[in-house]
Amino acid sequence: MNSSNKEIVLSRQTIQNRIQELGQQISKDYQTKDIIVIGVLKGAFIFMADLVREIDLPLATDFIQVSSYGGSDSSSGKITLVSSPSQSVDNKHVLLVEDIIDTGLTMQWLARHFTDQGAASVKVCSLIDKSERREHEIQIDYTGFTVSQGFLIGYGLDYDQQYRNLPAIYHLTL
Ligand code: IMP
Ligand code: MG
Repeated sequence: MNSSNKEIVLSRQTIQNRIQELGQQISKDYQTKDIIVIGVLKGAFIFMADLVREIDLPLATDFIQVSSYGGSDSSSGKITLVSSPSQSVDNKHVLLVEDIIDTGLTMQWLARHFTDQGAASVKVCSLIDKSERREHEIQIDYTGFTVSQGFLIGYGLDYDQQYRNLPAIYHLTL
């Protein structure tokens, strides 16, 4: 890929400024709660690392990985659990951290999963809300940025497992 087929959407500084605000809000909202922050692998690993360092509270961290197998229509996709958190979420306040929410299928499945596992509450923090293709209704409690459309790469977001290491977020124009 050369520079002519990616356009910057969110700079490194813009992302960092917004994460500071999210961290402050989350720190206020969870003051007296036993919180476990769960990142959705692989895309959320960079956002998660920056976000937890802006949350000024004692907290536990963990990760979950799922895969979705879509048909030609993404709404027919099925979610499969690839790896689970290593600690129980029973009676804990779960904050799910995701890179981007597109159709909503993955996050709807995850929210139900942790509710079924006995979490005291489940909230969602997504760096990007890509609202245009939403098919599954979900509540996003903390949104970094809303982007209406397009395929994004960088800052954890991949195209065919590449570009996660780009420090900013770009629109990939193929
Ligand atoms: P959903 O289940 O349709 O909401 O899909 C969410 C997942 O699809 C995200 O966690 C990403 O892994 C992937 N995804 C959706 N849109 C993009 C994008 O623009 N760039 C990179 N990955 C994306
Ligand atoms: Mg993802």
